[in-house]
Amino acid sequence: MPLVPMRQILDEAAKGGYGVGAFNVNNMEQIQAIMEAANETKSPVIIQASRGALKYSRMIYLKKLMEAAVIEYPDVPVALHLDHGNSVATCKQAIELGFTSVMMDGSLGEDGKTPNSYEQNVEVTRAVVELAHPLGVTVEGELGCLGGIEDGHGAGIAVDDTDHLTDPAQAEDFVAQTGLDALAVAIGTSHGAYKSLRKDPKTGEMLPPALAMDRIHDIHERMPNCHMVMHGSSSVPRELVDIINQYGGKMPNTYGIPIEQIQDGLKHGVRKINVDTDSRLAMTGAVRKVLVEHPDKFDPRDWLGPAREASKQVYIKRMVAFGQAGHAGDYKQMSLDDMKKLYKNGSMAKV
Ligand code: G3H
Ligand code: 13P
Ligand code: ZN
Repeated sequence: MPLVPMRQILDEAAKGGYGVGAFNVNNMEQIQAIMEAANETKSPVIIQASRGALKYSRMIYLKKLMEAAVIEYPDVPVALHLDHGNSVATCKQAIELGFTSVMMDGSLGEDGKTPNSYEQNVEVTRAVVELAHPLGVTVEGELGCLGGIEDGHGAGIAVDDTDHLTDPAQAEDFVAQTGLDALAVAIGTSHGAYKSLRKDPKTGEMLPPALAMDRIHDIHERMPNCHMVMHGSSSVPRELVDIINQYGGKMPNTYGIPIEQIQDGLKHGVRKINVDTDSRLAMTGAVRKVLVEHPDKFDPRDWLGPAREASKQVYIKRMVAFGQAGHAGDYKQMSLDDMKKLYKNGSMAKV
């Protein structure tokens, strides 16, 4: 089966009351690990690539690897999504490459750093919807700004800043004005491994970031059909950071997003959960371990193989925790052409 439009995966997740992990990839091993995990757990899945990933993989390699993935696992519904598109042109390029979903991150300007005005965000997101829907392609938009900065992307907002969280009333207007399919919300998560500045005043131990889950609850009450997206949702498991440090890494104590908070989101309209950092941690720990324990080794397969396996184990855990496991065979996979017709004849429900 070809890649499916992300909208179908999200609609089905809403019907089934579960969430779907959207995992970032840059290379063959990550794609294989995700597909193996999805196949073994019988999960629909979203594979996403950032602009950085497209540059690193030189685009055509990523496209061909994804073609191989759907040939190898035809029973796994998989969408290919552009993560944090910065302009209409970038989204257009991804669509031309065969992506079945794009994120127009109009919360920031084209530089991926400067926050946009609300009006600019509406304008650019609506422009991408007008471009994508006639082709059957799904659109994710973002309202509010995430904290932190990753690979040059992000406004550099402090991770404990609350001024840039999503305003639920504005979210209602944003969804109506843009006609998007999925809404990324800013609720206090941030990209990367360092998501929290909070410390226990007595012990000095790091605490998880304080999340404004009430914003998700409020948006879900206002728009029960709106598919929400949680970015920055890696859990940064202590055991993965420990492996990195045990084998020569120097990562300070840190905390990610507890799975329980994500699961609370799933009960209130969150359907897509973005995870990148956890896979990065698993792969880095596995590579460090091999090279420290076997300093004589020099065949890349000796460390890329364990890295692939370590990330696969993370994906399996997330697929089970998000509830997507067991749902791959629930529905007949749609093509972009099928979806195109639904948008065209107006039978696609407003989110
Ligand atoms: O948006 C953040 C994702 O983790 C992608 O990161 O831009 O370093 O590929 P990246
Ligand atoms: P993490 O850095 O928490 O994995 O978030 C990834 C993300 O949101 C990609 O868009
Ligand atoms: Zn993100």
